Amino acid sequence: MFYSFNTKKTAQAAEKILQEFGNGIEKVNAETITEKELLSYKNLILGVPTWFDGELPNYWDEFVPALEDMNLKGKNVAIFGNGNQKDYPENFVDGIGIIARILESRGARLVGLTSLKGYEFESSQAVRGDQFVGLALDFENQSSKVGQQIKKWAEQLKKEFGKKTKR
Ligand SMILES: Cc1cc2nc3c(=O)[nH]c(=O)nc-3n(C[C@H](O)[C@H](O)[C@H](O)COP(=O)(O)O)c2cc1C
Repeated sequence: MFYSFNTKKTAQAAEKILQEFGNGIEKVNAETITEKELLSYKNLILGVPTWFDGELPNYWDEFVPALEDMNLKGKNVAIFGNGNQKDYPENFVDGIGIIARILESRGARLVGLTSLKGYEFESSQAVRGDQFVGLALDFENQSSKVGQQIKKWAEQLKKEFGKKTKR
């Protein structure tokens, strides 16, 4: 699991996800991420909150040029991302969508897509059809839902990581 160890809510979500999985997931600080580290795993979980009105936080943004050059064929990637649908309804969890698009263009298979039900926002780069391309978490407005959302997502990932990729 790659996420910034210096975040508050993303780190909180990451810990909950790790608890659901029990042992067996390594944590890597996204602030010091290297291509080699990323490539050393087949199944990845990325924590990508949205900042600056629809943009990636700096530590992810700085890694984008490297990511755009990588071959991610055979990788299964799940993305969770914090956002705030009330204060940023036009850019809700855009960061999930920005990273998802890059990963897919490099051959990765996205897993952990989730329903849009239960959220209220205007637009989001993370939407594809009737799903988010990851797990959208809104600690500011839906903190009581987060525990259950993560539990469900972890169960989904355990199944989806196991499946063979079609490409
Ligand atoms: C300056 C600022 C800009 C933000 N921009 C967005 C945004 O465009 N879209 C969104 O969904 N959330 C946005 N947020 C909400 C954050 O994503 C949310 O607070 C999140 O929980 C932060 O997670 P972190 O503390 O782990 O980085 C913004 C928050 C701040 C303070």
